[in-house]
Amino acid sequence: MSLLEIRDLEVSFNTPDGVVRAVRGLSFDLDRGKTLAIVGESGSGKSVSTQSLTGLSRGAHVTGSATFDGIDLLTADEHQLRGIRGARIGMIFQDPLSSLHPYYRVGWQIVEMIRAHDRSVSKRAARDRAAQLLSMVGIPHAKDRIGDFPHQFSGGMRQRVMIAMAMSVEPDLLIADEPTTALDVTVQAQVLAVMRKLQDEMGTAIILITHDLGVVAEMSDEIVVMYAGQVMERASRRDLFYRHHHPYTEGLLASLPAQGGKGTRLSPIKGTPPSSINPPDRCPFAPRCPYAFDKCWRENPLPRVVFGDPSHQSACWLSTDEATRREERARMVASKLSAEEPA
Ligand SMILES: Nc1ncnc2c1ncn2[C@@H]1O[C@H](COP(=O)(O)OP(=O)(O)O)[C@@H](O)[C@H]1O
Ligand code: SF4
Ligand SMILES: [Mg+2]
Repeated sequence: MSLLEIRDLEVSFNTPDGVVRAVRGLSFDLDRGKTLAIVGESGSGKSVSTQSLTGLSRGAHVTGSATFDGIDLLTADEHQLRGIRGARIGMIFQDPLSSLHPYYRVGWQIVEMIRAHDRSVSKRAARDRAAQLLSMVGIPHAKDRIGDFPHQFSGGMRQRVMIAMAMSVEPDLLIADEPTTALDVTVQAQVLAVMRKLQDEMGTAIILITHDLGVVAEMSDEIVVMYAGQVMERASRRDLFYRHHHPYTEGLLASLPAQGGKGTRLSPIKGTPPSSINPPDRCPFAPRCPYAFDKCWRENPLPRVVFGDPSHQSACWLSTDEATRREERARMVASKLSAEEPA
């Protein structure tokens, strides 16, 4: 049994404008020590899907199932969830100040975190552990900085402090929601490396949420691509980058910067994502998809196995045969090129 098993997760909100279908049919498994990335544009349902697992999506109507180490998260009561959040499922966000209290010294905050989950740890031991963790995440002179306040750290260093705090109780699962979005590219890579190092030492499973496929290129074992609340494609990292099936994945890859993350975006996908309010019954990507044909406008494709590999799924009506799909892609590239040629 996997550490986390999500099946057909649906999350919706009733709003004055109609029902927001924020997540529609998300399924995945995550094993201990592994990293699953959830990638998609802003508003695609990444945050809501993980918040709903830990009871943090207020006012949401949630169906499906979510089993964490044998515990059904969707039927657990607030008391059970409080025991799981932080202790067994750690969370970090884009803005460290949403987790770090601005008026308390960072060392004290980590000590409190450790002792809140295990009162038998002495203050002194917790303090030593806090210093050790700060040093593990690469804070220089960690012992001396334990008494500093969050604002005394740079953005990247604050993010490291937040990782140290979340990992101080050795959670089984860490949910990292856009942890590096606010940071510049070099610092992003450092912060991800720190997460990976602690993951290796503690065997933590990680859900890494990001809008930037480039961020997950090195870090994830499996990638889920979301669009308008739905899973477009789910595959191992290797297959997603080198053997993808879905046109949306193709668009995301084509829009990655040329090299090293510093280049300009090559060709961003034209158009904007649809509203999640009362979505029509068709492929949500159809208005932006260069491959769209009749069926795409009539029926919404469910994720199905592609290329004969059960671990690879795509929600798209295009051929599931690899050779045929490759031909379709080649034809598309050729027709784009001829359209760009001067007459
Ligand atoms: N409390 C809420 N009430 C109504 N709609 C919400 C609420 N929270 C999120 N949504 C909607 O759900 C969709 C998914 O949001 P979110 O998961 O935050 O996207 P992402 O993290 O991918 O940027 C969006 O359309 C958003 O507006
Ligand atoms: S189902 Fe059709 S519109 Fe949707 S991604 Fe596939 S080809 Fe494009
Ligand atoms: Mg989000």
